[in-house]
Amino acid sequence: MASYTVLFRIILVLLSLSDSAVHVLSLSFGINYGQIANNLPSPSRVSVLLQTLNVSRVKLYDADPNVLQAFSNSQVDFIIGLGNETLQNMKDPLKAQAWIQQHVQPHLPQTKITCITVGNEILGGSDAQLMSYLLPAMQSVYEALVDLGLSKQVTVTTAHSLTILGDSYPPSSGRFRQDLAEYIQPILSFLAQVNSPFLINAYPYFAYKDNPGEVPLEYVLFQPNSGMVDSVTNLHYDNMLDAQIDAVYAAIKAMGHTDVEVRISETGWPSKGDPNEAGATPENAGLYNGNLMRKLEERKGTPAKPSVPIEMYVFALFNEDLKPGPASERNYGLYYPDGTPVYDIGFKGYLPQLTFSADSNKNNVLSIFNFLLFLIVYLLLSA
Ligand SMILES: *[C@@H]1O[C@H](CO)[C@@H](O)[C@H](O)[C@H]1NC(C)=O
Ligand SMILES: *[C@@H]1O[C@H](CO)[C@@H](O)[C@H](O)[C@H]1NC(C)=O
Repeated sequence: MASYTVLFRIILVLLSLSDSAVHVLSLSFGINYGQIANNLPSPSRVSVLLQTLNVSRVKLYDADPNVLQAFSNSQVDFIIGLGNETLQNMKDPLKAQAWIQQHVQPHLPQTKITCITVGNEILGGSDAQLMSYLLPAMQSVYEALVDLGLSKQVTVTTAHSLTILGDSYPPSSGRFRQDLAEYIQPILSFLAQVNSPFLINAYPYFAYKDNPGEVPLEYVLFQPNSGMVDSVTNLHYDNMLDAQIDAVYAAIKAMGHTDVEVRISETGWPSKGDPNEAGATPENAGLYNGNLMRKLEERKGTPAKPSVPIEMYVFALFNEDLKPGPASERNYGLYYPDGTPVYDIGFKGYLPQLTFSADSNKNNVLSIFNFLLFLIVYLLLSA
């Protein structure tokens, strides 16, 4: 496996040198690999797709062993997830330890699991009991990692929706909702203490969809526009995502913390929606994600923190046909399940048609043979 990762690198470099080849950017974004669908390709094929795309960070919503195994000996860093429904159990240190032993430890170190998110968007919901479980569950998972000697390589956090902000305008006045302070304050102290990031799911699309007449499309799509000025700091914002991130930093600071890093655990734009979902088109999704990736290439921070590049995870790898809710929910993918891109954002991957054996470690010779075979097919097709 390691040897064909090296081969990959060599081939990718060769490809990027040759004119006729697929353009491969060095991609500094992560990607959410959601699996609420019944038609997705196997994890081993996905691992080839993602390595072709040079994606180096992947976020899962669970700890799917098939995925984690398919990425063993890859250079890909993983955030894995503990679902909302597990929080009640995870409060119990013994159960947290058993979970790590069963779902994390067997994959280390060959799969680079670097972070565990405990629950998703719990504080943005309305389930007060879940909210009260959140920090205790994070603490137990952390303690279990300490006990197992893994706390240096695997961090523990949770992902929030932007609805936990009460104020977000202007960005420097960002504040968390008053009613959530009792949960957020101790979570921030915990994150600072264990040196874990604050994850936020941020979708300028929602702001646009709710108010298409007022919100300039160029401002949410990172297109040239006059932007806005924060009247308190005089900082100029030319896109909404930066403004949202700085609002979160301001809210964290208002709670007394300048020691917690913000990361974007989800952002994206749907390529299709219901008739009442303004702006959900392939053109807009292509602009949002393409411009976002070009912006990430520059590795700049936000106006309030220009020297701190923000780590981001695009939502999502595939369209997910079984997601409930409005049509947009099923259409955030960069790819259709068959591996065709939904729109062009300036780079391409491909899904090889040959099947890799998932336990390719034990089958190196066969895997390399398969690899060379599909490489030849691929080169022929792309010539
Ligand atoms: C892949 O990404 C790495 C790290 O971002 C970069 O150094 C490398 O040049 C990229 N390779 C290609 C072929 O884009
Ligand atoms: C987790 O719970 C929150 C709060 O109840 C809810 O908003 C969110 O959608 C849930 N996430 C999942 C993946 O079920």
